Amino acid sequence: MNEKISPNLGLSLVRVTEAAALAAGRWMGCGNAVIANRLAADAMACIFNSLDIDGHIVIGEEGRLGVSSPFNSGAQVGNGNGPAMDVVTDPIDGTARLIKGLPGAMSVAGIAPRSSMWSPFPAVYMEKIIVGADAADALVPECIDAPAAWTLALVARAKGKPVRDLVVFVLDRTRHKDMISEIQATGARVMAHSQGDVAGALMAASRDVNVDILMGTGGVSEGVIAACAVKSLHGAMLGRLDPQTAEERAGIRNANLDTKQILTCDELVKGSNIYFAATGITGGVMLEGVHYHGEIATTESVIIRCETGTRRIVHTEHLIDEG
Ligand code: FBP
Repeated sequence: MNEKISPNLGLSLVRVTEAAALAAGRWMGCGNAVIANRLAADAMACIFNSLDIDGHIVIGEEGRLGVSSPFNSGAQVGNGNGPAMDVVTDPIDGTARLIKGLPGAMSVAGIAPRSSMWSPFPAVYMEKIIVGADAADALVPECIDAPAAWTLALVARAKGKPVRDLVVFVLDRTRHKDMISEIQATGARVMAHSQGDVAGALMAASRDVNVDILMGTGGVSEGVIAACAVKSLHGAMLGRLDPQTAEERAGIRNANLDTKQILTCDELVKGSNIYFAATGITGGVMLEGVHYHGEIATTESVIIRCETGTRRIVHTEHLIDEG
């Protein structure tokens, strides 16, 4: 076999999410989101800047969190020596869960060649619907405006099971009150999580997890990160801006962004040279959390490469020197 296999950038990307998880894991249950986020972001930035990429952050979380970070929109990452790449990252997705010691916080990142990722700066929130490969064909753009019952019926038919057997991941937010009632009225089961819709996207797109669909509004940067994973897993996603405040609406208007445009996974991140990595911080459905054993810490991560469809689960032992 002479076929040339290009290097898997995901294997480098996972060092970045591991570093953030190792730094953040210490702050489990600490009650202090600011310090946990800052230390995770600093650890992530340090490894990012050793990577041979000329990366820039297409969309950061500053609009939602209101804080500055090395990963604000437009920031440069990487040592500038390698290929020009778009980057989206969240050192801790599920910060409030981490600082309460709850499961499901993870560190996540996606990369793809420059100009391939959607970057609707300064938008903050977007609607998302995500399904796995077995229901990908059922997800049509009309789903985003249709009653939940219609979408769930299409998904159930594609999966060959009744609607009442579906599990729907939704962020537990007041803005989703009506949608949750609609879903409940269909008989489908609701998995309402306080945080973490990248983890929710992974659950909905993974074959081996008992979640059939993610519905609802969450962060834009989390949406673009999720698209990297969902596309690589051959799932399907629909996204549309969903501004939550007058300020966000004005920013979107000034930037000439279209709040009616419905984007598919292929529009959220183009092409196939896409990598996604995530490392568990507190153990959850998808990944183990960080375990500390004196001088050693262990992490569990997933690396997904779109071009080959490879999904690697990586268990890593780290020698730690916290000096
Ligand atoms: P952070 O931990 O980075 O704050 O994100 C958690 C999260 O739940 C995301 O997964 C989600 O996209 C977003 O927050 C939703 O925003 P909000 O909490 O403002 O509804």
